[in-house]
Amino acid sequence: MADRMAGKVAIVTGGSRGIGFGITLLLAQEGGKVVFTDVNQERGEAAESDLRRDGLDVSFLQSDTSRQDCAEAMAEAAIARHGRIDVLCPNAAIYPETRLEDTSEEEWDAVCAVNLKGPFLVSKACLAQMKKQGGGRIIVTSSITGPRVSSPGHGHYAATKAGLMGFVRTAALEWAPYQITVNAVEPGNILTEGMKLHRDQAFIDSQEAAVPLGRLGTPLDIARAVLFLASDEATYITGQSIVVDGGQILPEMATAVLPQVDRP
Ligand SMILES: NC(=O)c1ccc[n+]([C@@H]2O[C@H](COP(=O)([O-])OP(=O)(O)OC[C@H]3O[C@@H](n4cnc5c(N)ncnc54)[C@H](O)[C@@H]3O)[C@@H](O)[C@H]2O)c1
Repeated sequence: MADRMAGKVAIVTGGSRGIGFGITLLLAQEGGKVVFTDVNQERGEAAESDLRRDGLDVSFLQSDTSRQDCAEAMAEAAIARHGRIDVLCPNAAIYPETRLEDTSEEEWDAVCAVNLKGPFLVSKACLAQMKKQGGGRIIVTSSITGPRVSSPGHGHYAATKAGLMGFVRTAALEWAPYQITVNAVEPGNILTEGMKLHRDQAFIDSQEAAVPLGRLGTPLDIARAVLFLASDEATYITGQSIVVDGGQILPEMATAVLPQVDRP
C-alpha cells in the first residue's frame, strides 16, 4: 500500500460501483480515509464490506446526491467520523440514452438534478469545513461527452457534463482564496456496470474500435487521474480538466484509417 493520501479524508459520491468504486478503492489503498455514498443501500453496504475485508478505512453512507438535505448530512457524517474533509469527488451520475425529441421534461430534470445540481450541492455542503481547514480539493467526474464531443441520445447528459465545466471554473475562481482547488476528469468510454446496463454490445464494440490505444478504459484509469489531482503534486492546478480517454477524441480522420492496434 502506498501513502499518497495518508492522513487525508475523502468523500466520493456514487462510490458503490464503477468509476466511483475505483476512486474509493485507490484513495483508500493510498492511505486515505474514504466516506463513499450511493443511493443504492444494498450495493453500498456490500462494497463497504468488501473494501473493509481488505483492511481499507472506508465507510458507506446511503445518500441521494441530488438532495440538499442529503448533501449536508453527508458532510456532517464525514466530519463527525474523521474531523475533516480534504478531498471531495462528486462522481455520481445517471445516463439514460434518449433522443432529444423523445426526452420528457421529467427525464431532463432528473438527469440535471443528479449530474449537475448534485456536484454543486455536495461541493457547497463541504465548503465551510474546507474553508475552516485552510484548503481542500474538489475533483468532479465530468465526461468527454458534452465538453468535447457528443452522440445521439446524450442530449441531457452532454448538457450536464458541459455545464459542470462552467461550475468547475467558477468554483475554482471563487474558492481559490481559501486554497480550495476545483478540477475535473473527463473519462472517455470506461467499461463499468452502468455502461454494460445502459449501452448495448454494438455501442461498446464501436467505442472500442474508435480508441487509438485499442481498449476501453477501466475505473482504475480514471482513479489514477483523480489521485493525481488529489495529491500534493497538483497543489497549483485549479479550474482544469484532464481527459482520460485512450486518445479517443484525437483523430482528425475516420478511425478506420488510423494505424490498427495489435490486440492480444
Ligand atoms: N462509464 C463511462 O464510460 C463514463 C464515461 C464518462 C463519464 N462517466 C462518468 O463517471 C461517473 C460514474 O459513471 P459509472 O459508469 O461508474 O456509472 P455507474 O452507473 O456504474 O455507477 C454510478 C453510481 O452512482 C450511483 N448513483 C446514481 N444516482 C445517484 C444519486 N442520485 N445519488 C448518489 N448516487 C447515485 C449509482 O447507484 C451507481 O452506483 C459518472 O459521473 C459518469 O457520468 C462515465
